[in-house]
Amino acid sequence: MPASSSAPAPAIDSALANHVRQGLSRTPKTLSSMYFYDDEGSRLFQQIMQLPEYYPTRTELGIFTTQQAAITKALRPAGNQPFRLLELGAGDGLKTKVLLRHLLEEKARFTYEPVDISSGALSGLAESLQKELPQLQVEPIEADYFSALAQVRQDAAPKAVLFLGSNIGNFLPDDRQKFLQQLSSYLAPADRLLIGFDLQKDPRLIRAAYDDTQGVTAAFNLNLLTRLNRELGADFDLEHWSHYTDYDPLYGAVRSFLVSRRAQTVHFADLNLRVPFAAWEIIHTENSYKFTRPQIEELAAAADLRVVSFFTDERQYFADVVLAPVQ
Ligand code: AVJ
Repeated sequence: MPASSSAPAPAIDSALANHVRQGLSRTPKTLSSMYFYDDEGSRLFQQIMQLPEYYPTRTELGIFTTQQAAITKALRPAGNQPFRLLELGAGDGLKTKVLLRHLLEEKARFTYEPVDISSGALSGLAESLQKELPQLQVEPIEADYFSALAQVRQDAAPKAVLFLGSNIGNFLPDDRQKFLQQLSSYLAPADRLLIGFDLQKDPRLIRAAYDDTQGVTAAFNLNLLTRLNRELGADFDLEHWSHYTDYDPLYGAVRSFLVSRRAQTVHFADLNLRVPFAAWEIIHTENSYKFTRPQIEELAAAADLRVVSFFTDERQYFADVVLAPVQ
């Protein structure tokens, strides 16, 4: 639209636009961590996984490496039946490759169907799989978890669904329960679900994992504002924002925020929207819940799932739990 026009720009209508209109009009202001993962956000998350403070990825990789035979056995249908291996939020597939390699060695008959909202992450994954495991059948799905669930049909071949990395920790308790119930309702008796849970531990260790000394997690959080500048014509000045995070052992949750370092008004040109921020007002951008074993068992039972196997590491930092529908 030319600058001289007096008519307002047409307000754009997209999931992100609607989310921002809602999330920034309530108190406290909130944006979903789902929107961290544009291509730059996915790249920054790759860097987070390498950080010395960020223990979850390394720990889950260790569980997979040392217990791959038992884990794949718990996941596969009986008698070398063909199956679909779905992965929600696949990312770079580093940990999954351990299981994929083992399944191929065992001559398992399966297709690997990684689901991710970042097309950059998905094409990077497909490319690296093609190179490293050329005999693997891959069918990537670019979608969010909820639309991906619609792809999980009751009438298809037996399936194993992976939900790794404690991605489940991002849900608020009610949403988590709903998500599990929905997922559970799509599972046939022979299907399996593998969920990675970050376990409760020394609160200082947890906190440090979300506030690394190199500032990569800060850049990851702040990148959300860069994304809003680019995709919604916003004018966030990153000089006046900072990353803040804390672990609350009372709730078992890390909460992350973007803090407005002064009173300021942000203009979203594409939304015809102005959002005022008071000095030190926050935008709540992420929850990362941490779990105990009894909580996991309760969570499963409430979604009509039973715990088939509970894999963990020596220090019990992380758990990979295989679940099946209650019959
Ligand atoms: C990808 C959701 C598992 O909560 O630990 C890492 C995302 N945020 N550091 C997590 C994240 C900040 C991560 N998950």
